[in-house]
Amino acid sequence: MSAIIELKGVHKTLGNKRVLAGLNLTVNQGETLVIIGRSGSGKSVTLKHIVGLLQPDAGNVIIEGRDTADMSYAELSELRMGFGFLFQDGALLNSLTVGENVALPLREHTRMTDDEIQRMVAEKLAFVGLELHENVMPSVLSGGMKKRVGLARAIIREPQIMLYDEPTHGLDPIMSSVVNELINNMKSKSKVTSIVVTHDMPSAFRVADRIAMLYGGVIIKTGTPQEFLEADDPIVKQFVYGEEQGPITT
Ligand SMILES: Nc1ncnc2c1ncn2[C@@H]1O[C@H](COP(=O)(O)OP(=O)(O)OP(=O)(O)O)[C@@H](O)[C@H]1O
Ligand SMILES: [Mg+2]
Repeated sequence: MSAIIELKGVHKTLGNKRVLAGLNLTVNQGETLVIIGRSGSGKSVTLKHIVGLLQPDAGNVIIEGRDTADMSYAELSELRMGFGFLFQDGALLNSLTVGENVALPLREHTRMTDDEIQRMVAEKLAFVGLELHENVMPSVLSGGMKKRVGLARAIIREPQIMLYDEPTHGLDPIMSSVVNELINNMKSKSKVTSIVVTHDMPSAFRVADRIAMLYGGVIIKTGTPQEFLEADDPIVKQFVYGEEQGPITT
């Protein structure tokens, strides 16, 4: 398996908090890697380094074999086009219809014709099971439906790398399993590489090829779901077996 994303010794201090303290992480082509960790442990900050919204204070972010520090602004923008990002809240624009929201990345970043865009929007809405909702406003949708619209928008440019920040947060168990299936379908049908950040351990076990646990600014363990279930480390066990997550103390 070849690495598509590598974080090497990444340090990041934000405000006066050292969030990442020499983080190492490798994501292999075609796998689904799940990052777990307590609230405030730096999961979203890690994703932001991968998409280039944050730069490390020290260390390297290497995408497809190239250090992002050596890339020009144009090259970085190009790179970002290859990523699909599912935001936690879907981040839909309420003044646009569902179909217009999904079409947005194509309207802004491509020269596709209206017909071509229409065809892509219909295809992606069908993929998330919302083909009948193209002309409604986001305000009438449930949380789970909004998340699926966000997913349709994230995949509209057919990215090879998908990043999901808490994709099942706030969803009921049925909607969560729909979203888990969508993540798995993206892998099996489109061969994408996925990074999923989640607190939701059942979801992690449904989608992960490998899990990485972030704690104290570093990845303290990576392994298969089975290896996580069998872990001896008390910090890992506490997280995996779902004890109440109190406020972070580190
Ligand atoms: N722009 C910023 N300025 C200052 N501090 C920040 C900034 N972004 C993140 N932080 C801090 O960095 C730490 C990690 O934040 P991050 O959002 O990565 O946590 P998380 O693991 O994603 O948590 P959650 O599970 O709650 O989403 C937190 O203490 C947060 O307050
Ligand atoms: Mg977060």
